Amino acid sequence: MKTETELTKQKIIRLLSLTDKEEQQSLFKRAYALKVDLLGRKVNLRGLIEFSNQCRKNCLYCGIRNENSNVRRYAMTDEEILGVVAFARSKELTGVVLQSGERTDEEFVKRISVLISKIKKATDDSFRITLSVGEQTAETYQRWFNAGAQRYLLRIETSDEKLYRSIHPNDGLHSFETRMKCLESIQQAGFQTGTGVMIGLPGQTMENLADDLLFIQRKGIDMVGMGPYLEHAQTPLNNWKESRMPLLERFELSLRMIAVLRMLMPTINIASTTALQSIIPTGREFGLRAGANVLMPNLTPVKYRKSYLLYENKPSLELEADETLENLLQSIHKIEEQVVYHDNGDSRYFLNRQINH
Ligand code: 5AD
Ligand code: SF4
Repeated sequence: MKTETELTKQKIIRLLSLTDKEEQQSLFKRAYALKVDLLGRKVNLRGLIEFSNQCRKNCLYCGIRNENSNVRRYAMTDEEILGVVAFARSKELTGVVLQSGERTDEEFVKRISVLISKIKKATDDSFRITLSVGEQTAETYQRWFNAGAQRYLLRIETSDEKLYRSIHPNDGLHSFETRMKCLESIQQAGFQTGTGVMIGLPGQTMENLADDLLFIQRKGIDMVGMGPYLEHAQTPLNNWKESRMPLLERFELSLRMIAVLRMLMPTINIASTTALQSIIPTGREFGLRAGANVLMPNLTPVKYRKSYLLYENKPSLELEADETLENLLQSIHKIEEQVVYHDNGDSRYFLNRQINH
């Protein structure tokens, strides 16, 4: 099947702007067919562990921003984290994503290195560790890669510098340039590199989003997680009521973003995100049918979940890991997809990159 890696920006904008139901469905169908053709009717799972909500940053959209004093701050212990890893292994998952707010102090940096070693020791070489713990120095990224983490997620949030500045405080801690540099350092350290954007941000245009997709392509990104921007009452961005896109429109636009990205980069890993599920309970299944191939079931212990609300209406706050996973397996089965078990789920795009290097 012909892939469409050379979509022009104008064509991308046209596809992202589709409103006709039938045209939209045919876009999803094309993207899904491409995914099935190249990657199979298969879904890769990674267990998400939101191990701490301590964060030094104040992103204007995020519920756990440092200045939100309503949040009870927590950090899981290594033992708790290893317990979740053991659970993930017992369910035959092949990797976990360790996510937290941003800390850059030496104690944290060292702790992560030690944690990586402990997880490696407790599992075997095929178990994949993904980190999603924000902006760090190039040395820190290298240290963590050398310790044995294989993947890193750092969303660019938006590739438009002006829009980026409008959704972050201007305090020296939230610079677009730093974010870009970090992404490059992550790639240079040797990680399979993931990024992503929020969709439906106040002031965001279809052109911005088309540029985001072209940015992802130009940078040779291996994995993408992107989803709708969602409000949180205790954040400054929530007060910008004027330019708000209705939730369902954000949802559908997010699906169109996934579909177009699949056509632009047929072999990368694309996650169907929890934010989609926050708008429609079966949102992630829609994401899979629009071309995504990765799901990240939330394995964070229930007692911490309510303290990790980046946005409102986050689903499954009361579900323990076992039930979360069970529900997910059922919904994957319903859309006639299969979970991949005996494969570590490396991005095909990344593997090809290694071979051609
Ligand atoms: N809505 C949607 N996504 C959000 N994130 C943070 N706050 C929100 C929100 N209000 C996303 C950002 C960040 C990731 C960890 O969560 O993209 O990179
Ligand atoms: Fe911290 Fe990440 Fe939230 Fe920004 S988006 S405030 S860095 S947790």
